[in-house]
Amino acid sequence: MKPHETFSNLLRAGAPVLSLAPMQDVTTLDFMRVVARYGGPDVYWTEFFRVHGDSRPEKWILDSITKNPTGRPVIAQMIGNDIPALVRNARLLQQYPVAAIDLNLGCPAPIVYRKCAGGGLLRDLPRIDAILGALRDAVSIPLTVKTRLGFESPAEFEALLKLFAKHPIDLLTVHARTVAQMYRPGVRYDLIAQAARELGCPVFANGNVHSAAQAQALLAGTGVRGLMIGRGAIRNPWLFDQIRAQLRGEKPALPTGRDVLSYIRELWESEITPGVKESSQVMRMKKFMNFIGDGVEEPFLHAIRRVSTTADFFGTCERFLDHDRRLALEPAPDSEAAVDAPAA
Ligand SMILES: Cc1cc2nc3c(=O)[nH]c(=O)nc-3n(C[C@H](O)[C@H](O)[C@H](O)COP(=O)(O)O)c2cc1C
Repeated sequence: MKPHETFSNLLRAGAPVLSLAPMQDVTTLDFMRVVARYGGPDVYWTEFFRVHGDSRPEKWILDSITKNPTGRPVIAQMIGNDIPALVRNARLLQQYPVAAIDLNLGCPAPIVYRKCAGGGLLRDLPRIDAILGALRDAVSIPLTVKTRLGFESPAEFEALLKLFAKHPIDLLTVHARTVAQMYRPGVRYDLIAQAARELGCPVFANGNVHSAAQAQALLAGTGVRGLMIGRGAIRNPWLFDQIRAQLRGEKPALPTGRDVLSYIRELWESEITPGVKESSQVMRMKKFMNFIGDGVEEPFLHAIRRVSTTADFFGTCERFLDHDRRLALEPAPDSEAAVDAPAA
């Protein structure tokens, strides 16, 4: 079966679909391989392909499609606003074994939105209209969209919903914050529920999901077809299987400190690049540790942010994690991710 057929079947079947959020410089082929060992999501997203002028899909991102080791479908995400370039890249990408072509309407990085791409497009609805029309004509496999609620205000979502309803897209993922809000508190799960009620296509909910109980409550409370999980899955790669257990009515198994230690070792092995300096390797790991550390008791995060050698890195991890106590791996109560997580 082709990946897009597997994906369409997943959307049609009854069980909620669990997906790993696209995360630039994180959801690489290597990270997909690690997450898959812990159960993994039902569907993966690539980090975004940058589309402009005469760009072609980046080779290292294509690797996560052509070498996808997970046995599960992967969706190719594009970011850009140049319609002929988006159409040309979508046509190229759909020749690869991808489950769908996804358009990014949410990236809040100023360097992206100032060029009217990603989240910046949310200020230009006629352009989104034209892009979706052109992509729908060009893409013969599922076409999906990942959006925020608006640029400045959640009040903009109403008009966006009308636009998404106009185009026969196959899935809308809603990260329920505005672009201006970045990652700050105030996630509007009620607006995700509105999208799920009003749109004819399936909707996935995204934003701050980090426990199985919350995931279950969010699915029930919004009526969405599935969930997209980003930072919660870096912190806790067991999360997808924990959610599956919760939905079966079982108690999700929590990892021990030692399990987390071995996950960190696996990440290290998979992220290591031969010839790269030790300090750069440690820096690379901090990209992941900023999230993992948030789920471990303080002062672990404080300590791990300060290491610069391999010996200190593993010494610190062992000091806090070489034990058999079970860890929920939920963000610290005062961290942004915890402040307005979906209520369980
Ligand atoms: C490091 C990082 C990189 C990201 N890169 C992308 C990206 O390439 N494309 C995209 O649509 N969203 C990207 N996002 C946003 C996530 O996909 C997701 O919408 C956001 O993190 C909220 O979900 P979460 O609370 O489950 O993490 C990124 C987020 C992070 C933290």
